[in-house]
Amino acid sequence: MIDLHTHILPGIDDGSTSLEMSLAMARIAVADGIRVMACTPHIYPGLYMNDGPGIQAARDKLQAALDENGIDLTLVVGADVHLVPGIVDGLRTGTIPSLNGSRYFLLEPSHHQAPPRFADLVMQLVWAGYVPVITHPERLTWIRGHYPTFVQLAREGAWLQVTAGALTGVFGRPAKYWGERLIGEGLVHILASDAHSSKRRIPVLSQGLAVAERLAGAQEAQRMVQERPAAILSNTPMAEVAPLPARPPTSGSWWRSLLGSQ
Ligand SMILES: [Fe+2]
Repeated sequence: MIDLHTHILPGIDDGSTSLEMSLAMARIAVADGIRVMACTPHIYPGLYMNDGPGIQAARDKLQAALDENGIDLTLVVGADVHLVPGIVDGLRTGTIPSLNGSRYFLLEPSHHQAPPRFADLVMQLVWAGYVPVITHPERLTWIRGHYPTFVQLAREGAWLQVTAGALTGVFGRPAKYWGERLIGEGLVHILASDAHSSKRRIPVLSQGLAVAERLAGAQEAQRMVQERPAAILSNTPMAEVAPLPARPPTSGSWWRSLLGSQ
């Protein structure tokens, strides 16, 4: 599997706090079947002042430590990019890294307040030639009043990333509900761990994958952790990547699949 959203680089945001923790996270990931991981620290002006060259250097250092310790995990560069003005310029100049240098990048909206003109801002990024992968919509407290916006964006050029742990209840009942609903309605492109540590928010995808399989079917679930992440890493144009299901995988509502009936 490929995990494209982690805070495994030590000491540069609110994720891993030490090299030892980063190594422990990597061992957890490998044990779960993850072979490639994107290092995606926050870029949040005024709070986490990371940039492309700094993230690349930190990635290289951690990769060397993984190799020295015989941990079979390949790291690539990315960032968890907070939605602020100037993203397109940052992507073009390299101060903001996309995922492995591709046209795809992680876009993190604010958690507790809907950004003004959110859909317009996301579509401007699409029209600039990028594919914003909107991180963890299921955990945003404002999704409740804005669900149709995410449906629209997922159909018009943005991608949605659901957190694997949300599907197993790590982030509480609302996040589980919205995560399951988004997957059940065929709107989710990728699953990722958004791991922050080796204790609570850990780099594990398999348990969330099992929930996704139940909601969307085994093939579609595999696409979320393998096929589409691989397409991102190889910068495959979106038109050539497996599209979202044309309609929900079960003929009934998403909650019916939760109950096990068809
Ligand atoms: Fe994150």
